[in-house]
Amino acid sequence: MPPIPPAIRAVVFDLYGTLYDVHSVAGACDSRYAGRGMDISTLWRQKQLEYTWLRSLMGQYIPFEQATRDALVYTCRHLGLDLDQAACDALCDAYLKLSPYPEVPGALGRLNALGVPLAILSNGSVFSIGEVVRASGLASSFSHLLSVEAVRVFKPDFRVYQLACDTLRLPAAEILFVSSNAWDAAGAWHFGFQVCWLNRDARTFDELGAAPRVIRSLDELPVFAPA
Ligand code: LAC
Repeated sequence: MPPIPPAIRAVVFDLYGTLYDVHSVAGACDSRYAGRGMDISTLWRQKQLEYTWLRSLMGQYIPFEQATRDALVYTCRHLGLDLDQAACDALCDAYLKLSPYPEVPGALGRLNALGVPLAILSNGSVFSIGEVVRASGLASSFSHLLSVEAVRVFKPDFRVYQLACDTLRLPAAEILFVSSNAWDAAGAWHFGFQVCWLNRDARTFDELGAAPRVIRSLDELPVFAPA
C-alpha cells in the first residue's frame, strides 16, 4: 500500500452530500407525492443549507434537524403539497437513514487499513450524525464524529473547522478535508486545511476565491496516490 503523504495526519469528511447521498430521501418523498420526489428533495436540501447560513448570520443556533424540518415545511408550502405532522415526521426520519455513496465503505476501509485517523465534521447535530452513521453500519470507521453543536454555529464559520484541529490536536495544514459541497470546500480551503472538493457530478466550482484539489471519487484521494 502507498504511504500516507507525510503532511496528511488525518482525513476529515463532510457528511451530507459527501459521504451520504441527501437525495436518497427522494424515494420516500416520491412514495408520498408521486412524481415529485426529486423536486422536493432538491428544494428541501437547498433551503436546509440556506437556513443554516441565515441562522448563523442572525447569531442564532438551531439544531440541524430543526433546519431540515423548517426547510421541508417551506418546500411543501412552496410546491403546494399538503404536509401533515405524520408525513413531516416520516420524511425527517428518512434524513436519519441516508444511503452512503457506493464507493464510501470501500474507501473508508482502505483508509482504515492505512491507519490514518478519520473524522466527520458536519453541520449535523450529535444525534443526527450518530444516527446516519450508525444506520449505515459505518460507525467503526471513524475515530471522531464532530458536530457543530459544540460551537453553536454552522459551517463555513471558521470556528467549526477549528473544532477539528482542536479535537485531533493537529494544525490545519496536516488535515485533509473532503467535501462535495463547494461552499464547504471553499471555507475549509480558506481556513487552511488541505482540501479535496469531491465533484462526483461534474459541477462548476463556486467563485469564492478558493482553489482546492478536485477529485471525482473517494478512490482518488491523495492518500491513495502512488508515492
Ligand atoms: C454537513 C452538510 C451541511 O455539514 O453537508 O454535513
